[in-house]
Amino acid sequence: MRAVVVFESMFGNTRLVAERVARGLSAAGEVDVLPVGEATSEALDGVDLLVVGGPTHVHGMTTPRTRDAAHEQSHRPDASVTLDPEAEGPGLREWFDRLTIPAGCRAAAFDTRARGPAVLTGRASKGIAKRLDHHGATLVAQSESFLVDRENRLVAGEASRAEAWGKDLLRN
Ligand SMILES: Cc1cc2nc3c(=O)[nH]c(=O)nc-3n(C[C@H](O)[C@H](O)[C@H](O)COP(=O)(O)O)c2cc1C
Repeated sequence: MRAVVVFESMFGNTRLVAERVARGLSAAGEVDVLPVGEATSEALDGVDLLVVGGPTHVHGMTTPRTRDAAHEQSHRPDASVTLDPEAEGPGLREWFDRLTIPAGCRAAAFDTRARGPAVLTGRASKGIAKRLDHHGATLVAQSESFLVDRENRLVAGEASRAEAWGKDLLRN
């Protein structure tokens, strides 16, 4: 089985979650972890399981404007975050607009977001799952959120939970 985990990340947390999901999946064979800018349709050729994750911005998936706001946040004198090397984009929203997903591909979505009820925070995985479905992929699991704290650091235990979630995907 070939699995690919595609991620978008401004401050590095979604990257870390993507890497741990991939570790969970690795028992089943080859797993690639690709930043969204490298996840061309060619790079997805022959993929059996596509897992896609991104940060929640303004209750949903990022936009160019929210990514600019994240940039600004990282440049404040009191910033507690640094930009991920892949933060220049593109975002998942733009990626989905020009994506072709292999026929018969199975898929799952995740996001990172603030602590609290999803009805208040929003969750990017809702839009990601919707787009995966529209592109013809078969969703094999409920989408999942992994939580960051007020300083935009992954909450303790979330990285392990991401690995377990990845492992669980293999059962579906
Ligand atoms: C511009 C901006 C808007 C945000 N809006 C939300 C939001 O509506 N809900 C939420 O739970 N988190 C929100 N956050 C927090 C992000 O979800 C958090 O920074 C992200 O999960 C960290 O992932 P990353 O390190 O991969 O960028 C926002 C962050 C930024 C920079």
